[in-house]
Amino acid sequence: MDKKAKRKEGLFAVVSPGMEGICARELLRLKAEEVRPVPGGVEFSGDSDVLYRSNLWLRSAGRILVRMAKMRCTDFPELYRKTVRLPWGRFMRPSTPVRVRAVSRRSRLVHTGRIAETVAEAIRHSLGSSADQAGGGEQLVLIRFEEDNALLSVDSSGELLHRRGYREDVGRAPLRETLAAGVLGLLDWDGSAPLMDPMCGSGTFLIEAALMAGGMAPGARRSFAFMQWPGFRPGRWEILLAEGAGESRLHVPLWGADRHPGAIRAACANAARAGVETMVTFRNEAIGKMHRPVFGPGLILCNPPYGERLGGGSDLVPLYAELGHAWRTRFSGWRCAFLCTDTRLADATGLSPVPIAELDNGGIRVLLFRANL
Ligand SMILES: C[S@@+](CC[C@H](N)C(=O)[O-])C[C@H]1O[C@@H](n2cnc3c(N)ncnc32)[C@H](O)[C@@H]1O
Repeated sequence: MDKKAKRKEGLFAVVSPGMEGICARELLRLKAEEVRPVPGGVEFSGDSDVLYRSNLWLRSAGRILVRMAKMRCTDFPELYRKTVRLPWGRFMRPSTPVRVRAVSRRSRLVHTGRIAETVAEAIRHSLGSSADQAGGGEQLVLIRFEEDNALLSVDSSGELLHRRGYREDVGRAPLRETLAAGVLGLLDWDGSAPLMDPMCGSGTFLIEAALMAGGMAPGARRSFAFMQWPGFRPGRWEILLAEGAGESRLHVPLWGADRHPGAIRAACANAARAGVETMVTFRNEAIGKMHRPVFGPGLILCNPPYGERLGGGSDLVPLYAELGHAWRTRFSGWRCAFLCTDTRLADATGLSPVPIAELDNGGIRVLLFRANL
């Protein structure tokens, strides 16, 4: 193996709050080393194979960063001097447009705009590029100051990892793919029990479940920022892409319903783009019309409307009561779980649901509730 492939890097998977443990579990399965969950993400290390695999396979992470340097800086000339010396040529070409995002806490350098400009200027100088770069995709660089210590990282993902490339039809209040996959992990759903989402919208829970149960990589249909790096090895990527391909392991029913015909059309189109259309069945049906399925018991999981995005709030009490009644009367023996922002609405199901995790759905704080039927 060549030297480039063997270099071990400090890496960081960014996750939304509540997903740290699930992501750490995923990383251990990918044979990442020094896996350590911290608030907001998971630190780990590995060579370029681990970096490629984590982008390709992690289901719960938002992006993967390469830790580039930790350095103490108390003034701008020092920040410039130390930044210009770093090996930027590993991640960028002189023509690559650079975007720097800066955060500062309890540090002498507080002006984040000026920190970002200084870093961008040092990178351009180091690469010998001009200010008006315009070649290929933009490279994101992050700098975080904490008590005068700067942590510099390079983003390896590009577009956030929840953008798997299958969801063009988003429905009315979609769920992030990374959150859907993380919730399945939190519920210990491993593909061996039937799964049903009676308010499936654009189908995110079921499509993520099908990808998981089918052993399919969530990132197989998209590109990543690291593919533009000068040292990217396309041949190695092709080999890693082929790992696990064709090992379809699904043998359980995955079933979704929604009362809106448009949502079902979107869910079917999304499932087809994800390559899982034969694994999931979608039906245009309202909660009140649901029948006990012939299969099961299994897990029934959904995110009902919770007011913030779809409007309303207290008017949703009858919907939650109907949901609880339908599940209690037709799904005895099943496990159920749902996402909801409001404990009062959750209690309206009459299922005595217990909150098991506090999560974030695109900036909205949501609780994951669980109950046995
Ligand atoms: C928050 S969205 C679900 C989003 C979905 N998880 C996704 O990934 O796109 C709630 C869904 O519940 C559906 N819904 C609302 N009332 C319903 C009912 N009585 N029966 C079935 N579906 C219903 C809505 O049409 C909407 O698609």
